[in-house]
Parts: sequence; structure tokens; C-alpha cells
Amino acid sequence: MSMQTALIIGASRGIGFELARQYRADGWRVIASVRKPQDGAQLESLGCEVVQLDVNDAAQCAAFGKKLATEKLAIGMINAGVYGPRTDGLEPPTDADFDAVMHANVLGAMRLLPLVGPAVARANGRLSVTSSRMGSISLRTNAGGWLYRASKAALNSLLADTALTFGAQGAICVALHPGWVRTDMGGDGADLAVADSAAGIRATLAGLTKADNGKFFNYDGAPLSW
Ligand SMILES: NC(=O)c1ccc[n+]([C@@H]2O[C@H](COP(=O)([O-])OP(=O)(O)OC[C@H]3O[C@@H](n4cnc5c(N)ncnc54)[C@H](OP(=O)(O)O)[C@@H]3O)[C@@H](O)[C@H]2O)c1
Repeated sequence: MSMQTALIIGASRGIGFELARQYRADGWRVIASVRKPQDGAQLESLGCEVVQLDVNDAAQCAAFGKKLATEKLAIGMINAGVYGPRTDGLEPPTDADFDAVMHANVLGAMRLLPLVGPAVARANGRLSVTSSRMGSISLRTNAGGWLYRASKAALNSLLADTALTFGAQGAICVALHPGWVRTDMGGDGADLAVADSAAGIRATLAGLTKADNGKFFNYDGAPLSW
């Protein structure tokens, strides 16, 4: 069997880096994107093909789309994300905080999903967005981080539209909650080691069937409600 390709957008650190590392360790070809060029060296040393991409840069996204026009992706992941202000109550965000979170988590995905989708569909592959349980409206029990929550709820909406579009062309498109993970974003007190989150995500993606297109899953494969 020829080598399969995984694309991970947002692979400089945290969950994205570990996903890139694990797919490479498993013998996959990996295209890994980093925002800052200096963050590419470690991924290159693992044998990843590194692409420099700030999801907030429309021109960089479009140029990356040209590269994707000839790719067949068994896995395509939009993983880049920011948390923004660590609010407890309903503090209105500043314009700058709103724009930073919504641009990276929502607008970036709106730029990339139309480019990644066709490359995944060509391989009858799996496309995921790294969402969060915090974006679920039905599972919510507190209002902390409401800007981040709103951005992930919007990302879930984008995934539904992506699944309608590229599911019909052969891709299986899902939103994933990676767990509460010990990364820069999740913090030291989080439940899960990054290796366990990434391993669960990989197994969940590998086990998907056509009937799963357009659904929301926990990293361990359990279904989540929107
Ligand atoms: N950790 C958790 O508990 C948890 C829970 C639920 C969901 N998530 C989601 O999981 C994903 C990964 O999170 P993480 O915990 O690994 O966080 P992290 O350690 O803070 O890493 C975030 C990643 O996103 C990239 N990124 C942010 N803005 C970007 C931009 N404009 N362009 C390109 N890349 C950008 C970062 O690149 P730089 O290094 O250049 O900043 C980094 O690679 C995120 O979408 C997050 O919302 C995490």
C-alpha cells in the first residue's frame, strides 16, 4: 500500500505537534503547518514536510491551497486555535480579543476548509476540525470563556456545512473534542497527557464510517451532542 498522507494545520506545539509526531512514527507522510518558521525545525527532524502558514493570512492560505490542489489527504486536520480572554462571567471582549479569537478559530477555518476538503475527498479520507466540548450548547454547565465557546460553536457550524459539501464527494468530516489536555492552552492541571489525546484522536478518525459524517466526537470515540 502506498504511503498515506496526513495534513495537520497548527502543528508547532501541543496536540497538533503530537499528532504529527505520532503519524510519522507510524510511517505516514505528514504535512505539518507552523505559523512561525523557526518552529519548523523539530517537525522537519521528524521527517514532516513543513509549511509556514498563519491562518490569519488570507494570501498564505490561498497559496497553500495551490499546493493542496495536487494532494490526496487520507487525513486533513484543522487544529490551530487560540483561547483568548480567560473570563468567568459575561465580560464583553475588547474588539482586539474578539477579532483575534474569531479570526483564528472561525475565519481561518472558513479559508482552509474549502481548500482542504477537496484534497480529502480525493482520497476518500477523513477531515476533522479540533473543536471543543466548550463549544457544545447542550453540554454546557458554566459560562467561563464565553468568547472561546462562541468561536467553537461557530466552528461546529462550519463543520456541518463542510460535511454536507464534502461528504457528498467521499470525505468523512467530523468535529473533535481532544479532551482537556496538558498543553499551553489546557494548562498543567488538565486531565489528559497530549500523547493519550492524540492517540485517541487517531484511533477515532481511523474507525469512522460514512454514517459518522457531520458528527461530533470525543477524543475517545464517544459521540457528543452539539
Ligand atoms: N488543550 C485542551 O485542553 C483543549 C481542549 C479543547 C480543545 N482544544 C483545541 O485543540 C487545538 C489545539 O490546542 P492545544 O491545546 O494544542 O493548544 P496550544 O498548545 O496553545 O497550541 C495551539 C496551536 O494552534 C496554533 N495557532 C494558533 N493561532 C494560529 C494561527 N493564527 N495560525 C496558525 N496556527 C495558529 C499555534 O501555533 P503557534 O505556536 O504559532 O502559536 C499552536 O500550534 C485548539 O484548536 C484548541 O482550541 C484544546
